[in-house]
Amino acid sequence: MTQPKTILRALAGEPLPTPPIWMMRQAGRYLPEYKATRAEAGDFLSLCYNSDLATEVTLQPIRRYGFDAAIMFADILLVPQALGADLWFVTGEGPRLSTISDESDFAKLGGADDIHDTLAPIYQTLRNLRGALPHETTLIGFAGAPWTVATYMIAGRGTPDQGPAHALKAAHPDVFDALIQRLTDATIEYLSSQIDAGAEVIKLFDSWAGSLKGDDFDRYAIAPAARIIAALKQRHSDTPIIAFPRGAGERYAGFAQATGADCVAFDDAVSAEWVAEKVQPDGCVQGNLKSSHMVTGGEKLVRETRRIVEALRNGPHIFNLGHGITPDADPANVQLMIDTVRGA
Ligand code: CP3
Repeated sequence: MTQPKTILRALAGEPLPTPPIWMMRQAGRYLPEYKATRAEAGDFLSLCYNSDLATEVTLQPIRRYGFDAAIMFADILLVPQALGADLWFVTGEGPRLSTISDESDFAKLGGADDIHDTLAPIYQTLRNLRGALPHETTLIGFAGAPWTVATYMIAGRGTPDQGPAHALKAAHPDVFDALIQRLTDATIEYLSSQIDAGAEVIKLFDSWAGSLKGDDFDRYAIAPAARIIAALKQRHSDTPIIAFPRGAGERYAGFAQATGADCVAFDDAVSAEWVAEKVQPDGCVQGNLKSSHMVTGGEKLVRETRRIVEALRNGPHIFNLGHGITPDADPANVQLMIDTVRGA
């Protein structure tokens, strides 16, 4: 039977004449309708946990642009909160969490099976979306990868170099390894429940993978992703998985084979031509357009978009940005990117 959804066809390895397209952070502050719903919710976390409003903001970019996929509206830091960490967002700055610096902080966390009460609204958002999305639109669920989530849990906030996480790894390797283990287990339970609730594709965001070097990359980027993917494939063999080890550089090559991911998402620090040669032979790829083009637009946006489509046209490809769209982006530039991809 032929699969009608273009994203699922690409993820199954089919090169398509026009790559399907969606965009990281497609529901976000660059859209006036998002800002209105977020104001109605009160704050960001209330929006994440309000299934009706989270459904609404997930649908907004689908209505406006007709993207080929919808990514459920939530955040990677809900898992730490479900494990018992304190979490809040400071407007204009970003997330804040209680910190983990030793065994006693780790001991306060709940178990991997204790997360579902907190996360029940997220599963409800997915059930809502399966009923509300156009039939051709693929529904993506997601989680943060253990290393990236650990960097926020250890430091209590975003950090430029993930220094506190690297320091805990050196000073208390047993605590650090136990945290990675707990997050790996919780992520398996969370993603498995997302698939039960209707997610058709899973994306694993390892936004800070680039600061793991050498053996650390194998131990903390590849190994947890491989464990999560193996466990999900055992329970849900038909659900494709996109892995995004942002900043992996040369380590993007071989990542799909080492982890079992069906698709590797890549940032804008490597070229689409290099990815076509070194990564795409192993399966579907996604990413690359610099988010800044969504701010600046014009001829350069059109040229770069065409270049990426051209470079990856002989293999399975999902068009996307190299990282999330920023709040200062112009919604008209998003339309220009889509028109360029679909008209190219
Ligand atoms: O549209 C989508 O992409 C789906 C929703 C989504 C959000 N966060 C909503 C969000 C997804 C997939 C994420 C993932 C996420 N969250 C990541 C991994 C991807 C990446 O960007 O590297 C990370 C590291 C986080 C943690 C996080 N959440 C930070 C550091 C911040 C503050 C920075 C910022 O962009 O404001 C957030 C907040 C956040 N998550 C917003 C949104 C729409 C902005 C909050 C607001 O509306 O004020």
